[in-house]
Amino acid sequence: MSESEGNMRICVYPGSFDPFTVGHHDVLEHALAMFDCVYVSVLNNGMKHPVFSVDERVEMIQHMVDVEHMQKVVVGRFDGLLVDYVRSVGASYIIRGLRATMDFEYEFQINALNRHLAPDIDTVYFMARPEHSFLSSSGIREIGTMGGSIKGLVPESLEDIIVERLKKQPSDC
Ligand code: PNS
Repeated sequence: MSESEGNMRICVYPGSFDPFTVGHHDVLEHALAMFDCVYVSVLNNGMKHPVFSVDERVEMIQHMVDVEHMQKVVVGRFDGLLVDYVRSVGASYIIRGLRATMDFEYEFQINALNRHLAPDIDTVYFMARPEHSFLSSSGIREIGTMGGSIKGLVPESLEDIIVERLKKQPSDC
């Protein structure tokens, strides 16, 4: 790592992102305002039955990053423990979004485990906008597979790709 990289504020925004929503996008924008480099990282083999493969999710997020010229974003994937991955990219912060109290319970637990494993790595939380508090990837998958409109729920650059992909999905997810 060069001297200038040594002073960079680097964070990892991990998740399943099946698919990436406007809520995720909002969190990413907040992270970009605070950090010099944001790794948006899809968990490899985390979900038992994802609709979008890890390759598809990484490609979609990369497409959005390219379209929006997000120069400080690195899109990737990770296996194993998040804290090990965070260290491997030279980051010291994890980014997570919070929608409601149900997220808090879950995040509280993950935070405690991550802090146990890596006390030197902190997690920064961004509260979802009120208009995004109802939003979930699973809701988008369900609406899309049943032919409803997902406009305004996913980033504009991904809307057509997600709509086409969900059309091919059996509507029992
Ligand atoms: O979008 P998600 O599914 O809520 O993201 C969950 C994620 C990827 C942050 C979490 O499952 C994770 O960090 N998995 C990696 C394994 C790990 O480090 N486990 C220990 C803490 S739970």
